[in-house]
Amino acid sequence: MLTTLLLLSLSLPTLWTQVLISCPYKSLCQQALLSGNDVVLQCDDPKAIWYFSSILEEDPLLVSSMPNTKRLPGGSLQLTNPQPTQTGLYHCQDSDSSLIVEYELDFQDVTTLHVTHKDLGQKPLQNETLRLGSSVLIFTHWERWQDCNRCEEPGERKRLGYCYIEEPLEKPMPCWLYLRAQKVQFSRMRPELQVEACLVPCDHFKETSQPYFIFDIYRLGKLTNNMWLTCPLASIYR
Ligand SMILES: *[C@@H]1O[C@H](CO)[C@@H](O)[C@H](O)[C@H]1NC(C)=O
Repeated sequence: MLTTLLLLSLSLPTLWTQVLISCPYKSLCQQALLSGNDVVLQCDDPKAIWYFSSILEEDPLLVSSMPNTKRLPGGSLQLTNPQPTQTGLYHCQDSDSSLIVEYELDFQDVTTLHVTHKDLGQKPLQNETLRLGSSVLIFTHWERWQDCNRCEEPGERKRLGYCYIEEPLEKPMPCWLYLRAQKVQFSRMRPELQVEACLVPCDHFKETSQPYFIFDIYRLGKLTNNMWLTCPLASIYR
């Protein structure tokens, strides 16, 4: 079994695609993402310099001092296994210190993912109103449904949702970007995954271009301390 796993992991790097995040020139883009899933932040300048300011500490630091980051030759920044503590502002500038692009990212904790299956009658998290000075709405902002994983036979599809907070008449914001350094923790503040059954006609392109992501849930009891299994491309229901 171990050998099989090893072979599998050796054969996988070609499949290992990262999510590419991009944003228009000289703009600031805000986005929620799942922790533990690699991303590449686009910045097209071979001399690009990246700075990071955490939501907790104001002082920007050079990204090259962060261990799980890599500046790619074209200027983009690769983050491997990003953590919720890496939530904050990623600033890319050129060699004359002028802004090329900025990303404000909220890496929501994948270990708290709330998973529900629609066709098993499981309900996603409900909207809640919180009193944080004024009253704000906390809700899940859903991505679109991904394509069905089978065709011409029963399959399933999934969608990811992120925790967002909305003040009356304001644009909603990813929860941790909204809260900043406020030390509050509500059980409602979690990313979500929803699964549903599907049955679709075949379309070869869609079958082979499904996005996926990685998460682990530690329910292995005593084994938890010395086991780490990830199973890319797998479904938890099949
Ligand atoms: C929850 O709040 C969001 C944002 O205001 C809204 O789009 C959505 O319809 C609400 N959902 C429910 C079930 O009320």
